Amino acid sequence: MTIRAFIAAATAATALMAGAANAADCPVDVDDPFDLEAAQIEDIYNCLKDAMAEGYAKEGDEIGANYRSWTVTSTRPAVAGPHGNRLLQTFANDVAAEQYLKFAEEGVKMPARSVLAKESITISKKKKQARVGPLFIMTKMEDGAIPETDDWLYAGLQPNGKVMKIKQSFCHDCHVNYPDQDMLAYPLEEVRIGN
Ligand code: HEC
Repeated sequence: MTIRAFIAAATAATALMAGAANAADCPVDVDDPFDLEAAQIEDIYNCLKDAMAEGYAKEGDEIGANYRSWTVTSTRPAVAGPHGNRLLQTFANDVAAEQYLKFAEEGVKMPARSVLAKESITISKKKKQARVGPLFIMTKMEDGAIPETDDWLYAGLQPNGKVMKIKQSFCHDCHVNYPDQDMLAYPLEEVRIGN
């Protein structure tokens, strides 16, 4: 092999490996994410989960780098519908976990500094492939800090760890449908892990 061919081959191999690290290759053989069985979802999550956490942590965001050490709130990711039919899995920080895991339906008021971080996985129909979606984040601020959103600050990280531009009203206009749960919608019942 000439040096030039060797370099070309090595570059191609590196590109392939980078693809795997980005988990570009987690195949999915359904068209509709709602058709996924639990076992398929677990396979998808196993395929993506390491690259996912690495990606969210990449820019050094504190939540992106730490949320995996928080309390997981479901047995596996699940498709609820909102959030773009993505597979969703929420983690609760120490401040939030006790109250969140009650999944209470009335009179909920989350303590200030509660943080919920929700991983998401997009199923690409066209490519028959699962890829990492944004990390969606809700942080409860001090009482009265943001009256328009009941003191919630909405945020998001892209799969590469960069901060997403988010319109607070876009998120809140939907979360406001859960006023008795302090705007929290909770994971699907069948996957909830209670305390
Ligand atoms: C169309 C409705 C809708 C919109 C818009 C929406 N959400 Fe959600 N969100 C939900 C539902 C429903 C759930 C619960 C489903 C699940 O997690 O399985 C949820 C769950 C969450 C959770 C986990 C905490 C909880 O509520 O249990 C976070 C964090 C979150 N969303 C952040 C955001 C952010 C940030 C935005 C804006 C970029 C946003 N959401 C926009 C409907 C919405």
